[in-house]
Amino acid sequence: MTDEPGPTEWGENPGVGPWPGSLPEDARYDPDLLRDGDTRNVVDAYRYWNREAIIADIDARRHPLHIAIENFGNDANIGGVVRTANAFAVHTVHIVGRRRWNRRGAMVTDRYQRLRHHDSTAALLDAAAADGLTVVAVDNVPGAKRIEEVTLPREALLIFGQEGPGITDDARAGAALTVSIAQFGSTRSINAAVAAGIAMHTWIRQHADLDLAW
Ligand SMILES: C[S@@+](CC[C@H](N)C(=O)[O-])C[C@H]1O[C@@H](n2cnc3c(N)ncnc32)[C@H](O)[C@@H]1O
Repeated sequence: MTDEPGPTEWGENPGVGPWPGSLPEDARYDPDLLRDGDTRNVVDAYRYWNREAIIADIDARRHPLHIAIENFGNDANIGGVVRTANAFAVHTVHIVGRRRWNRRGAMVTDRYQRLRHHDSTAALLDAAAADGLTVVAVDNVPGAKRIEEVTLPREALLIFGQEGPGITDDARAGAALTVSIAQFGSTRSINAAVAAGIAMHTWIRQHADLDLAW
């Protein structure tokens, strides 16, 4: 065990200063970052890399896991969902309904995450079928199976609902499976971004190669 921060942790003053010594010749490096230093929210392995190089590197390791969140009422949870999806190298985050969402919670991770918009749940389901994805609705509704007890499909699209209304009837009707996260307290539901994190990590535990994690 070491007390040194791990590669995905950062302290009070994250980042690195200007590149020390003669500058490296590598197309992945950004000349401005080499000159000025890099304080972005990226793992140390990507320090000084330009955005395109980071995206290309993650693209080579993205999981066949897609996430969708319904955004008919401008849900404030989307930023958190995008950030967690980035951390797990999710293939694409699909946003259904309104195009606008509050990017603050994404902590700039949306710059490295594939995002796709759909006007309706029907359009999302068409896209999932075209991409050969098995659709899984995630909500604690009657008839749902426990996520703790099912094996999620590997090529999967997990759909989450919004605060208030929850998942739409269209999403449930189009899903091959509906799963719920077991709860034990008094609240009727958990925050959608938290639910998305739990569900994504369930997929990671079942399908990801941990040797590829940082
Ligand atoms: C706050 S909940 C919405 C409403 C919820 N169906 C209710 O009865 O209050 C927002 C979204 O978070 C996800 N969610 C929250 N709690 C969950 C749970 N226990 N199991 C699965 N999904 C959950 C679902 O995607 C849901 O649509």
